[in-house]
Amino acid sequence: MQNKHLLSINDLSRSEVQSLFATAQELKSLRNKRIPHRRLEGHTLAMIFEKPSLRTRATFEIGIFQLGGQAVYFQPHDIRLGVRETVADVAHNMERWFDLIMCRVFTNQTVRTLAENSRVPVINGLCDKEHPCQALTDLFTIQEHMETLSGRTLAFIGDGNNVAHSLMLLCAKVGMDFNLACPPGYEPDPDIVMQAESIAAATGSHLRVSNDPVAMAKGADVLYADVWVSMGQEDEAQDRLKIFQPYQINQQLLNYAHPNARVMHCLPAHRGEEITDEVIDGKQSIVFDQAENRLHVQKAIMVTLLDACP
Ligand code: CP
Ligand code: NVA
Repeated sequence: MQNKHLLSINDLSRSEVQSLFATAQELKSLRNKRIPHRRLEGHTLAMIFEKPSLRTRATFEIGIFQLGGQAVYFQPHDIRLGVRETVADVAHNMERWFDLIMCRVFTNQTVRTLAENSRVPVINGLCDKEHPCQALTDLFTIQEHMETLSGRTLAFIGDGNNVAHSLMLLCAKVGMDFNLACPPGYEPDPDIVMQAESIAAATGSHLRVSNDPVAMAKGADVLYADVWVSMGQEDEAQDRLKIFQPYQINQQLLNYAHPNARVMHCLPAHRGEEITDEVIDGKQSIVFDQAENRLHVQKAIMVTLLDACP
């Protein structure tokens, strides 16, 4: 990879995404056949968490173990980035012990400061701006189910948040159309939309942002949900739960999508809020394939980043 860090979808070219998916497919098939694939024998991964996690923690920790390496998990109160010591000093310590650093933090600035001060690759495991590991896994999962990505439409219904940003950038990159329906005032970051539009102009992808969930869901190949209240927004919960009501993925909305549409959710799901039980448990739902694939795709990310390191 040209970039030694994975901080944003912008760090990857289209061909790097394709080769990452090929590596993920290979590692998945080795894992499923229980064939050892210790490509990172003796390597170490630091996992810094300022926020909770089930999937990200489990899949990075299991992933590095299956590759022959070892992870050390730092829970939210261990390091206290920027409080107990500076973010730069944390990076300068960690680069002496670890071969890779994965972080889940509040601000994009923290991810960038870690990367600027680290000689070893830094992976963004979610911040306020992006969730690149999630989006890469999601499109890998769509490719498994639908074979082709180019020309498909993903409709994200909900908040213009971190997950929406990474999906928008990645859809633009691989030539998928991306629709987003959100309440007024909850649109995606205009800078990210501008970046995605300039990528889309080159790949022929179409991006649409609207306040109308039905218009965005119509004919879509994928309906995608995320929570209405992201980690760190708990104070806004009362308002958000009211404002987002019309943006629930339920059977009525699913009926507008393509008859073979798949339903996706990055999880955790707040059942009865952004998605109904009927839809998330229905036959069009592939949410647990997404959860499984976090493992295979992140193993591919770790292998690829370390292969690129001198
Ligand atoms: N989707 C996701 O990143 O899950 P966790 O928050 O449980 O890691
Ligand atoms: N948008 C959600 C994603 C959780 C994986 C959050 O940031 O909490």
